[in-house]
Amino acid sequence: SMVDKGNHRHFMLKEIYEQPDAISHTASHYLDLANGKVKLPSKLPFDFKSLNRLTISACGTAYYAGLVAKYWFEKYARLPVEVDVASEFRYREPPMDAGGLALFISQSGETADTLAALRYCKENGQHIASIVNAQESTIARESDIVFPILCGPEISVASTKATTAQLSVLASLAIAAGRQRGHISEAQEFELVDMLAKLPGAITKALGSEEKIDQISHKLSKAKDVLYLGRGSLFPIAMEGALKLKEITYIHAEGYASGELKHGPIALIDETLPVVVVAPSDDLFDKTISNMHEVAARGGKIILITDEAGAKSVGDDVDEIIIVPDAHEFVMPIICAIPVQLLAYYTAVFMGTDVDQPRNLAKSVTVE
Ligand code: G6P
Repeated sequence: SMVDKGNHRHFMLKEIYEQPDAISHTASHYLDLANGKVKLPSKLPFDFKSLNRLTISACGTAYYAGLVAKYWFEKYARLPVEVDVASEFRYREPPMDAGGLALFISQSGETADTLAALRYCKENGQHIASIVNAQESTIARESDIVFPILCGPEISVASTKATTAQLSVLASLAIAAGRQRGHISEAQEFELVDMLAKLPGAITKALGSEEKIDQISHKLSKAKDVLYLGRGSLFPIAMEGALKLKEITYIHAEGYASGELKHGPIALIDETLPVVVVAPSDDLFDKTISNMHEVAARGGKIILITDEAGAKSVGDDVDEIIIVPDAHEFVMPIICAIPVQLLAYYTAVFMGTDVDQPRNLAKSVTVE
C-alpha cells in the first residue's frame, strides 16, 4: 500500500518521527519565510478584525489542540475564544450572534459530533472554518473555508503528527488574527513566524530524548494512575499526555491545571502515584516549583518535562527530568507534545499493548 510502517515497529512511532517533516510541510504552506509573514492559503470569507468571538469545537486530541489555540488567540490576537467538546457543544444550545467565526478541528473530517456542531453553527449564522487532514471529508465539504493540516495520512489511532501539524496551523492563524486586529506588529510577526520556522529542528531535538523516555516508561508501566500537570498553554498538553497514556496503555491518567492540584488531586498523592509535570521555565515556573514541592513532600514521584534552565533551577524534588530544547513560550506546547507522545508510546510498547489499534477505540468516530 501507499502507507506502510517502513522500518518502524508501529505506525505510531513512524508518525512521531514524521513530525519534523510534516510540520515543515505545513509551514511552507502557511508561512512566507522569506518575508517573515503568515500567508493564508486562500482569501478569508471573514474578517478577523471585526470578530467579537471565536468558537472552537472538536473531539479528543483535536479538542486539546483547540484549547492550546485559545491561549494563543486570546494572548496574541486579543480575540475571546470559546472551546468545547463537540458532543457537549451540539446539545447545549449555545446562543450565537450571527457573523461570528466557528472553527472545527478534525483529522478525519468525519467525526459525527464535530459535524453536528458545525451544522448547528451554520444554522446559527456563523462563518464555518475547519482545520482538517482529509480534504475529501464531509467537514471539509461543508466548510466555507478549509485550512488543510497537510501531515499526510495518519494511521495510528492515537494522533501524533496530525496534532502537532494542527497546532502549527492554529499558531499561524493566531498570528494572522493578531496582525489583522492590530495587536502584533510587523516585527513581532517576523519573530513569531521565525519561531514556527524553527520548529522542525526543535522537534528533532525533542525526539532525541527517546532513550531516556524509554527508561522512564519502565517505571511508569507499574503505575495504576498517573497525574499530568501543566499551566497556561501547557495545561492542554498535560491533558493530551494523559489522554495518550490512557488510550494506548490503559493506565488511568488525568491532566490537571497545576494550580488546581490543591483543590483535589493532592489527596491522591503518595509514593505510588507518578506525576508528570509539563513545565518549561516560563514566568510561572516558580509557582510550578512550589507545586512540585507539595507533591514531593507527600512522597509523589515527579517526572518533569522542562528546558535546560528549568532543569537547573529545580532541586531534588524531582525524580526524572526530560529536557526539551529552549524555545519561546509561544511554541512550547508544540515542542512539549513530543515527550508526552513518546512517554505513552514507550510505556505501551513495554507493556505489550496493541499500540496502533488500542482496544475499544476507533480512528474515526462517525457515529454518535
Ligand atoms: C477518535 C480518535 C482520536 C481523535 C478523535 C477525533 O477518538 O481515536 O485520536 O482525536 O477521534 O478525531 P478527528 O478525526 O475528528 O480529529
